[in-house]
Amino acid sequence: MTTILVTGGTGTLGRLVTERLRADGHEVRVLSRHTRPYAVDLREGGPGLDEALDGVETVVHCASSPRGGDEQAADHLIAAARRAGVGHLVYISIVGVDRVPFGYYRSKLAVERRIEESGLGWTVLRATQFHDLVVTVVRGLAKSPVVLLPAGVSDQPVEVAEVADRLAESALAAPAGRVPDMGGPEVRTFDSLARACLRATGRRRPVLSVPLFGKTYRAFRSGGHLAPEQAVGKGTFEEYLARRFGQ
Ligand SMILES: NC(=O)c1ccc[n+]([C@@H]2O[C@H](COP(=O)([O-])OP(=O)(O)OC[C@H]3O[C@@H](n4cnc5c(N)ncnc54)[C@H](OP(=O)(O)O)[C@@H]3O)[C@@H](O)[C@H]2O)c1
Repeated sequence: MTTILVTGGTGTLGRLVTERLRADGHEVRVLSRHTRPYAVDLREGGPGLDEALDGVETVVHCASSPRGGDEQAADHLIAAARRAGVGHLVYISIVGVDRVPFGYYRSKLAVERRIEESGLGWTVLRATQFHDLVVTVVRGLAKSPVVLLPAGVSDQPVEVAEVADRLAESALAAPAGRVPDMGGPEVRTFDSLARACLRATGRRRPVLSVPLFGKTYRAFRSGGHLAPEQAVGKGTFEEYLARRFGQ
């Protein structure tokens, strides 16, 4: 039995990683800003973080906020993990963080670098977008009377449960460095994903693709966030929609 800390263990991914590791009989602690007894804001660190890491062999770092602060959070986590003698830090990143100059991706890349240079044993897995995220984005866009999509952009969503399985396996194996990227089974235009999602959720909205400008859009349009050669995920977006919305 291994003692493992899952940061962000209440999130979409972290919850599933936690379940899998517990089902395998490991002692799993969950850390987030709101989970007792390990309620810690990683951006602030503090004694609660040292308590959470006391006796921990492996950390799976899933906590993240697109609103910022991930670099400070990583600094606090790495420093505390070193003090605690943690042997393995597993990090989930995103495919294309080194190709798409999107603010959140830049900070994920900066966290990868910090982990690589931490002196700890480490594993980094990059995945494409989870099906859940595509639905959240489309539902957000569908609040407007017309759904405006970035023209020419595709996506390759992946089933989060499969990513959780891969992360859990990594957590139980030796540190492996950067492991092969994990992409979903199909590269689809954002337009077709959005239409499928609108159908599944029963929303009727006109969909309009709009060309955007700038480096970030160009990088997304040229597929910097895709991993077609690593289309290893099995669950399709349609299967996910059917499961979630009962089509
Ligand atoms: N979603 C995707 O499509 C996707 C694709 C590839 C990779 N990833 C990566 O996978 C990871 C998890 O994503 P997700 O979608 O599962 O995220 P999520 O559902 O938003 O969950 C984030 C988790 O982090 C915790 N958290 C946030 N800020 C924190 C802080 N300052 N200190 C401590 N805990 C904090 C949250 O709990 P509290 O709010 O209670 O703190 C929550 O448990 C992220 O690193 C993300 O970049 C996501």
